[in-house]
Amino acid sequence: MAFSRLLIALVLSILSLQVVARALGRQPHELIKPYKRAALQDIVTWDQYSMSVHGKRIFFYSGEVHPFRLPVPGLYLDIFQKIKALGYTGVSFYIDWALLEGQQGTFTAEGVFALEPFFDAASQAGLYLLARPGPYINAETSGGGFPGWLQRTEEIYRTPAYVKYTDNYASNVGAILAKAQITNGGPIILLQIENEYSDALNGITFPNKNAGIVIPFLNNDIAPEGWFTPGNITGSVDIYGHDDYPMGFNCMVPSTWPVNSLPSNFRELHDLESPTTPFAIIENQGGSSDAWGGPGYGTCAAWFNEEAERVIYKNDFILGTAIINMYMTYGGTNWGNLGFPGIYTSYDYGAVIAEDRTIFREKYSEAKLDANFVMASGDVYLTAVPTESAVNGTMVSTDSLAVAPLKSGSTGFYVVRHSDYTSQESTKYRLTVPTSQGNIDIPQLSSTLTLNGRDSKIHVTDYNVGGTNMLYSSAEIFTWKAYDSYKVLILYGGPGETHEAAFATASNGKILEGSGVTIKPTSGSLQLNWAVTSGRKVIQIGTELFVYLLERYTNRDDAYNYWVLDLPSPSPVNNFHDPSNTAVIVQADYLLHTATIQGSTLALIGDINATTAIEVVGYPSSVTGVSFNQFGPSTAKNSWGVLGGLATYTAPTISLPVFTDLVWKVIDSLPEARPDYDDSNWVNADHTKSTNPFPFVTPTSLYGSDYGFNTGNLVYRGHFTANGNEDNAGTFSVSCTGGLAFGFSVWLDDTFLGSWAGDALIESNQQTLTLPALTAGQKVNLTVLVDTMGFEEAAPIGSNAMKTPRGIMNYGLSGHANTDVTWKITGNLGGEEYVDKTRGPLNEGGLYAERNGYHLPNPPSGPWEESKPFDSLFGAGVYFYTTSFDLNIPAGYDVPLSFEFERTAADASATQNYRCQLYVHGYQFGKFINNIGPQYSFPVPEGVLNYSGVNYIALSLWSLSSAGSAVESLQLISTATIQSGFETVALSPQPTWIARPGAY
Ligand code: GAL
Repeated sequence: MAFSRLLIALVLSILSLQVVARALGRQPHELIKPYKRAALQDIVTWDQYSMSVHGKRIFFYSGEVHPFRLPVPGLYLDIFQKIKALGYTGVSFYIDWALLEGQQGTFTAEGVFALEPFFDAASQAGLYLLARPGPYINAETSGGGFPGWLQRTEEIYRTPAYVKYTDNYASNVGAILAKAQITNGGPIILLQIENEYSDALNGITFPNKNAGIVIPFLNNDIAPEGWFTPGNITGSVDIYGHDDYPMGFNCMVPSTWPVNSLPSNFRELHDLESPTTPFAIIENQGGSSDAWGGPGYGTCAAWFNEEAERVIYKNDFILGTAIINMYMTYGGTNWGNLGFPGIYTSYDYGAVIAEDRTIFREKYSEAKLDANFVMASGDVYLTAVPTESAVNGTMVSTDSLAVAPLKSGSTGFYVVRHSDYTSQESTKYRLTVPTSQGNIDIPQLSSTLTLNGRDSKIHVTDYNVGGTNMLYSSAEIFTWKAYDSYKVLILYGGPGETHEAAFATASNGKILEGSGVTIKPTSGSLQLNWAVTSGRKVIQIGTELFVYLLERYTNRDDAYNYWVLDLPSPSPVNNFHDPSNTAVIVQADYLLHTATIQGSTLALIGDINATTAIEVVGYPSSVTGVSFNQFGPSTAKNSWGVLGGLATYTAPTISLPVFTDLVWKVIDSLPEARPDYDDSNWVNADHTKSTNPFPFVTPTSLYGSDYGFNTGNLVYRGHFTANGNEDNAGTFSVSCTGGLAFGFSVWLDDTFLGSWAGDALIESNQQTLTLPALTAGQKVNLTVLVDTMGFEEAAPIGSNAMKTPRGIMNYGLSGHANTDVTWKITGNLGGEEYVDKTRGPLNEGGLYAERNGYHLPNPPSGPWEESKPFDSLFGAGVYFYTTSFDLNIPAGYDVPLSFEFERTAADASATQNYRCQLYVHGYQFGKFINNIGPQYSFPVPEGVLNYSGVNYIALSLWSLSSAGSAVESLQLISTATIQSGFETVALSPQPTWIARPGAY
């Protein structure tokens, strides 16, 4: 079994025959046909429509979350519950190899890097997982997830020859993932191989080595190019999928959407390329990354907003999509130098859940409406196929609109949008669609429907609401549920729209709440026609069906405030989505996490930021009361049985430190520029050979990674003896590479020579700096401090861009041959044998204070001078400040905190050239570049911050100009005050400072 498992896995891993042969220790003698492998388990299955889990069809509706971008395992559940509350069924996650094998051959995944807490939280929330372990992940991470030591390999990345370097990672991470598969009681149901491997170079590897991974493999083709589809001669995955970012990544102007970018031929391509697998979009746009100098994530969220979701996600549904993953759903933070140079500290991504974990963005609520519709439509949606592509003007009275039909049995879904999806017009239309009662023109009781601007609507026909046939509806379905003696259907529309729905065979309906609904019995149905206004309308049809007509969004009693919460199922499904189990429908603001039935009480757990009415509009008859966060229960019912109570918000008293009032201690973090500095313990930069494909032109290699320094600041010491020929405006000219927005500064002994202060668009720069007068025979020390911004990524396949070196590329010294200068180098203490195993291989760089661990809690700052980062204007140099303060945030409140620098400082007009790194309990949680921006506000999660006790923070201040710099302002601000039913957040490990042997 083990051997056949390995064989099958190897075949499916799309290794070339040569690689297979090598792995099996024999020559290839036959072509192995890798067409669909025998099932290795029977829990997760699939056909051309969808996946099934435990025999039930399931829409794998997923949000992308990266555990490594939130180093607080105690908060995973919070993120997952917010995703589950959207109606999603899954989460996809990358694993960042660079963080787990920072030293070649030593794999470690513990503490904040452990994956098990992520798996446990997913099971608790009830979300299935798609594991994406790379080894290459891209993901805007340093090196795309490749560890720095991989720069020293000769082989071309992602080709067969390189695969051997992935073995250690693959076998270790494979074993961890295997244990957490659904077959072993865990949440993982899918595994993606490599990332966007859209080429034939066959260097794909994945973590299976004897690990026993039996769940389906899938890929994420960069576009629907048909790589590695079932039956493909070069090998195949089980479920073929591809990525889609229709809007691209330019969010500079929120109202500007790229023209003609909405995919129109995806389904046709799928039917040609992979007709036996479900239509799967493995990465579907959820926002955008943002670069140094960019517009900021507020703008990106406003650009890829709720309108983009409406238009793009509904366009996905009409393709019959049954596996989808929104990239990102919670972006998190590029803490500790984990990002690549194209991005800054925040990886908020403008996603539905903001970096500070709040869900205030309207796009969160819209995502909930979208997901709930397909969930409520169940197998009917999951077995639906497009009958034709969207055609402008077909089935609709104007060719300004396009209608795409999807059919499943007798049910029809009609997605309407503007033909030009960027159109901001308001367009009136009538829809003509086939139904079981013949072709019907909608609306019947008024003249037109309206599509307002960047919107898209899914109209339905012959839609089964738990046994009642809704003949048609122009209003959109949020959800419906059938309980023992009644059914609830929730329809919504945009403000000011007119909608119409008709129920076959029904003959009577009455208004229970609200007004302005025309109810008209006809020969075959009961028609409802209404103008959408704020304030809901509730209609009872017959004895059993309660129809809620809501406005999408204006007041709190609108569609955005309704939640559909799964009730736990019997084992083995438990908290995961069970399409045949009951769910409750509740109106509440701001968030509901979970619902369970305890005795006869429906126990709701949630978050509020204001006193809010809780209304349970759909629940099983066993329930007679409702409680919220343990308050209650209330047994109050309205006239038709809606159960309600009031959740009272009490504002807490929160006191936050005022940084200007604290005692700060400072130490010079550039002792290298002092005459007495001793660098004898430094590494000699004396390599005369390098495997790096970018040949060095200096006498010895000065590439950081050639000496094991792969992260953050690099410091060089150049020694030469003056010969008297440097004079007469002699220069030291130096060229460095650090990636976009990098900078460097140069000193000769204690004389500052100059800096490159950085530019958002420049990744290498040369400076020619004037030397001071030197005396022949004088021993001279040059110090060059380079800020590196992470490694380049390694896409596309076969690219060696990730090997782009970091550090000094070339130099020249007046009156000298380059060989006259001997160099020493340092980065983080220990290089790849990094000291701080808790915070990982990338967190600390080569600043003196970092090498000595002074960024950690409780540094030996007693003897340091007292000084604040705000009030001193030193010259060029690096100063390192520490302070501490207490926090005492009351239990039961979620109060996200951010460190906010002076807002205007990130303007292009800022004149002070300085860079700060912010450390909280040793975790580097911010890299602020005053003269580049755009990030000035740095959220730091609870768990890194201690909310009930002492907090140690540190700030490095690197002034790149001789004028010096002071931090204009730094404040700790709360971005929300939420009364929360969430459990106490466990602190992430925070080992304190101890003297570091051999630190220099
Ligand atoms: C995709 C890639 C992801 C991420 C995304 C952009 O092409 O697979 O890892 O980089 O682009 O955010």
